[in-house]
Amino acid sequence: MNLVDVDDLTQTQLHAVLERAAENKAVGTESAPLADQTLAMIFEKPSTRTRISFETGMTQLGGHAIFLGPDDIQLGHGEPIKDTARAMSRYVDFIMARMFDHADVVELAEFATVPVINGLTDDAHPCQTLADLLTIRQQFGTFDVDVAWVGDGNNVCQSLVLGAAMTDIDLTVATPEGYEIDDGVRKRAAGLDGTPTETNDPEAAVEGADVIYTDVWVSMGEEQKRAQKLRDFDGFGLTESMVGDRTVMHCLPAHRGEEITDDILEGDNAIVWDQAENRLHAQNGLLVWLDELDDERIV
Ligand code: CP
Ligand code: NVA
Repeated sequence: MNLVDVDDLTQTQLHAVLERAAENKAVGTESAPLADQTLAMIFEKPSTRTRISFETGMTQLGGHAIFLGPDDIQLGHGEPIKDTARAMSRYVDFIMARMFDHADVVELAEFATVPVINGLTDDAHPCQTLADLLTIRQQFGTFDVDVAWVGDGNNVCQSLVLGAAMTDIDLTVATPEGYEIDDGVRKRAAGLDGTPTETNDPEAAVEGADVIYTDVWVSMGEEQKRAQKLRDFDGFGLTESMVGDRTVMHCLPAHRGEEITDDILEGDNAIVWDQAENRLHAQNGLLVWLDELDDERIV
């Protein structure tokens, strides 16, 4: 079982992972459920939250995590993904990978014989969505919430589209023209009976919303496109009037003065630190759930 994107889980499995996560957050980890287990963490891109929450999580669960940056393993020096996947699987119990090309994590998952968890690709960020679902339910007590996405229709947005489709969240996605979600994601959401409303008008998107969610305009790896993207996203920065009394979410890191202002990020409506904290709980829930799933298969 892998988590390449949120819809690798069934709806029942998604809820089971979130229950494990909520339980882990509420009561902590009494024993060491992942004692003697190791998580390999492959990072092609930088990270604060993903790296620290996974590494800390493995410590809390009684296991160990190995950080593998671009220069640390042969993968960054020409060893094929499929060879890396098979060799690593002989040592570790889980692999988490943050890579540029989504197809690379798909290939890693195909060849690994241990669970592969996507720690962000250009197209998806399922661990962020698990944390966001946990955060929304803890904030509102329900998934029956109207969320407006204002920003780029790439990784964080696309996994949220799938997460919303698998819960009662009513999602409206506002992107500039040319930055919409992929048609494949749209179809997968439709298959889950959860097609988001799409628009190029951020003001219209936030009408009736309980939550406004935004993300950086220039994602990791897009630095060369910065000038063009700043022009294309003009008008998509959150303003006080768009926010009103709505809850504000951001996966972080934030670029104050671009997609969000300092006042909004520091204001009472922002729940971004709860989101960041919930990365730890959501992933701990996921790791323990995956381990239990593995035990059930062996029995
Ligand atoms: N939100 C998120 O994934 O943050 P990092 O890039 O710091 O891991
Ligand atoms: N869209 C952002 C998300 C960072 C967590 C990026 O890919 O850089």
